[in-house]
Amino acid sequence: MKNYTIAVIEGDGIGPEITAAGMQVLEAVGKKYGFGFTFNKVLAGGCAIDKVGVPLPEEAVHTCLESDSVLLGAVGGPKWDTLPGHLRPEKALLGIRKALELYANLRPARLLPELKGACPLREAVAEEGFDMVIVRELTGGMYFGESGRRFGLGGEEAFDTECYSVAEIERIGVIAFELARSRRKNLINIDKANVLESSRLWREVMHRLKERYPDVQYSDMLVDNAAMQLIRDPKQFDVVVTSNMFGDILSDEASQITGSIGLLPSASLGETKRGLYEPIHGSAPDIAGQDKANPIATVLSCAMMLRLSLDQPEAAQDIDDAVSRVLAKGCAPPTSPLPAKRPSPARK
Ligand code: IPM
Ligand code: MG
Repeated sequence: MKNYTIAVIEGDGIGPEITAAGMQVLEAVGKKYGFGFTFNKVLAGGCAIDKVGVPLPEEAVHTCLESDSVLLGAVGGPKWDTLPGHLRPEKALLGIRKALELYANLRPARLLPELKGACPLREAVAEEGFDMVIVRELTGGMYFGESGRRFGLGGEEAFDTECYSVAEIERIGVIAFELARSRRKNLINIDKANVLESSRLWREVMHRLKERYPDVQYSDMLVDNAAMQLIRDPKQFDVVVTSNMFGDILSDEASQITGSIGLLPSASLGETKRGLYEPIHGSAPDIAGQDKANPIATVLSCAMMLRLSLDQPEAAQDIDDAVSRVLAKGCAPPTSPLPAKRPSPARK
């Protein structure tokens, strides 16, 4: 019997609850389709800071590298907010992305028919629905550029730099074009080429690539306009490709208009089959341990893992269908149009 080794980073807050649900679903679907799992729990995030003093112990990276894939709950929480940058729980996530060279982050955002009532957009827009995937570059740009503090003429300064090489842009571009080709054949590149040199190179490379994909309808959009268009007319987006920083911001925006951030899965991929799969929501420390967390985003992340890393498309489809059936039964999250304030810090 085929057996997959999965590194499981429970992380902090609701992380342990939602990853438990994910493992349960994987076990169940494995039983049905004739494969098994060995889950190796990995200490990373705030809990690792508490236990061993660093967010990402060496052996955590090692266990992930030895696995067929990684399932991650969420990391972070107010408890660790005052630590210096290099010791924050978020460093665990950034470190794993970099160590595993997971440069392509796929974040699907789809308005499920059952959640139309929860969509905060105009009724007519919600009625039309939308189904898009954000392809976010994940191991470059401002997140990993040169940064620091120094003293300038005006006193203390801090800087973070955005740097992209042609090779980095090209490989994420190829992922996006290929994905667009497998969907509605529409790709929108989002950048800030009217201001940033890094965006101008990014756009040049995308334009070179588009010659290789004449069947994909390609266009460029400035990021400020994109932030507006997402709210005005989200159905115009099929596949979107963008940098690390812009993708971080736009994917939170896209998740909110699906009606529930608790439903959105994500996949982070590199050159090997191994991927990291995680819900896009944060650790929600305020509801941790109360059996209130919605595990659907994690369950759907497991489906993505089965499809994209483990070559088990039927089992993946089975999970997706089961989630749809649950939502159709009316087990959807509360449908108040918008909570007055975000219930918890959305932190991974
Ligand atoms: C995300 C998160 C992370 C990011 C943080 C927690 C480092 O916001 O996965 O979107 O900015 O990439
Ligand atoms: Mg984010």
